[in-house]
Formats: sequence, C-alpha cells, structure tokens
Amino acid sequence: MRAVEDREREIMLELVRVTETAALLAGRCMGMGDKELVDAAAVDGMRGMLSLVNISGRVVIGEGEKDRAPMLYNGERVGTGLVEDELDIAVDPVEGTRLVADGLPNALSVIVAAARDSLMPVPTFYMHKLAVGQRARDYIDINAPVRENLRVVAAALGKKVRDLTVVILNRPRHADLVREVREAGARIKFIQDGDVAGAISTSVPDTGVDMLMGTGGAPEAVLAAAALKCLGGEIQTKMWVRDAEDEARARAASFEDTTQVYTSEDLAKGKSIVFCATGITDGDMLKGVRYNGEHATTDSIVMRARTGTVRRIQTSHDLSKKTLHSFRAGREMPV
Ligand code: FBP
Repeated sequence: MRAVEDREREIMLELVRVTETAALLAGRCMGMGDKELVDAAAVDGMRGMLSLVNISGRVVIGEGEKDRAPMLYNGERVGTGLVEDELDIAVDPVEGTRLVADGLPNALSVIVAAARDSLMPVPTFYMHKLAVGQRARDYIDINAPVRENLRVVAAALGKKVRDLTVVILNRPRHADLVREVREAGARIKFIQDGDVAGAISTSVPDTGVDMLMGTGGAPEAVLAAAALKCLGGEIQTKMWVRDAEDEARARAASFEDTTQVYTSEDLAKGKSIVFCATGITDGDMLKGVRYNGEHATTDSIVMRARTGTVRRIQTSHDLSKKTLHSFRAGREMPV
C-alpha cells in the first residue's frame, strides 16, 4: 500500500485538473446574470473530472442533500473507487456564484481532499468567523470584543490599528461589526461574496488584507480552515444559531454546546489535507480564466498541510485539442 504522503503528492495535480475544469466551464458564463447556469456548468465539469481521479472519495461538504443536488451531494462517492483508504472530499465548484454571474472579482473553484473523518460536518448554515495570518494566529479570540482583536492583531503585525485592513462580507447583519471596526479606526474592505478567498487573503503575502471578520457560510468556514492549515494562518469560528430549526439541526447532529469555539484544527483535523483552488474571475490571489480563441489560461493554487508547500500553477489549455469530461453527458465534450 502507498504511504499517505505519496498519495497526497500523486493526487495534487489531479485535483488541479478538477478545479481547472470547473473554472473553464463556469468562466464561460461570466456576466450572464444566471447563477444556476454558472453552478450547473461548474458542477458538471467538476463531477466529470473527479470521476477520473484515482481516489475513493466521499463528499462530506458538497452541493447539499441528495434530493436537492443531482451531483456532488453530501455522501456521494467520487473518484475511481480503486484505492483502499477513503478520503473526505469537500467541494465548492463555484465559491461566489453571484460574483461570476455578475462579472465581479474573486470567484474561485475549490476542492479539499483530506483523511477520512477529518473535515467537520457543521450542522448550521452559518458560522461567525475571525481569520488572520501566521503572525497574528496566536493572539485572536473570537469571544473578545472587536476592538480588542484589532488591537492584538495590529500589535502582532507591528502596525497601528488604523493601518489594518479587515475584510467583511457586505451584509446588513454586519452593521454592528462595521460600526465597531470603524469606531476602532481600522480600514474595511467590503466583499460582495466569497469569504473563502477573503479568509485566505489574510495569509497570502501582498494581498493587503490582515483579517477577516463576520458571519458567512459554514461549509466555507471548513474550506477556509483547510487552506489556512496549509498556509499557517488561523480561523476561529462559532456556529450561528439563528432559530429553533438551527438549534434542532445542531442537537440532531449531537452538537450540544452551540457556543463552542472551533479552530482550524477542529474544522480540518490533522496533516493529511490537500487544498486546491482555481480562479474563475480575477481576484487578489488568483487570476480569472482567460479565453483567447483556441487557447485558455487558468491560474491555480494547490497546497498541503503536511509540508506547507504552496504551488502556483498557470496552465495553458489548447481548446482545439482539449475535451472535458461531462458527467451529465457521460462523455468528453469540447470546451
Ligand atoms: P455561494 O457561491 O455558494 O453562493 O457562496 C457565496 C458566499 O458569499 C460565501 O462566500 C459566503 O460564506 C456565503 O455566500 C454568505 O452567505 P449569504 O450570501 O447568505 O450571506
């Protein structure tokens, strides 16, 4: 049997091909104003390419429940199924569907492969999040006041609070948070969608982002945790229990204490984690897909938690020769 490390190395490029495929297909729909079209294209490409990858994977974070999602639903088996050890697979074929539909920046296609049972299936739809890069990781506390977190992060980074840039999803629910950040004097970078990219940008040099604060999707928190485990950053989270239904979902999944803080290590356990993303629209970290007649280029990042190796992969695709495996059609299709 192959060592786990060897298998991680072997599947890295395969996973890049998976997110590249989703990005190439979703990118064609940029600016068309149709979220469903964007998602359907990416899901079909991602599922098609995944079926060719030599893993035995089980989707633990996918497009939702089987009765709602025809492909990449939670619990679905993916990969060739020929490998003994099963992997947890988390996907977001388009992280920022609205961004692609509206032609806005920072949309990604994302996949995470990790050892079995290492990715946490969060029962609530949303989580409160606080993410920072490596130098500030040991100082944050999601239970502390906003002002205090800004103070300790600024100190850790050797900056003044007024020099900090905090990424916040532009949502009415963040009115109090925004007021507190403004009162403390830090700068805010609002994003319309895509808080996985926002969280990652805290830990990538030269993005100009120091922190992510606010409440966003729970699956996105797990994806961000996997990325930050590779990059050395940190995300602290708590479930956002909005109503009795959220409470019931948490209890049904045996989460008794819904006030508990979950760190990157809780959400994405251990070292056997591979994170891969391809840009769909231009972003702080990755360029979007470029199409030029018979060629297209994609920009991807793939990294491992075990070694902290971060690879940037720019790929030139010859569309006159290349076909993509459509899962729905069950065959190769031109791009
Ligand atoms: P989708 O592309 O899956 O729609 O997610 C986009 C996103 O902005 C996430 O990045 C974020 O975590 C979540 O939606 C926020 O949810 P909401 O739009 O309900 O505030």
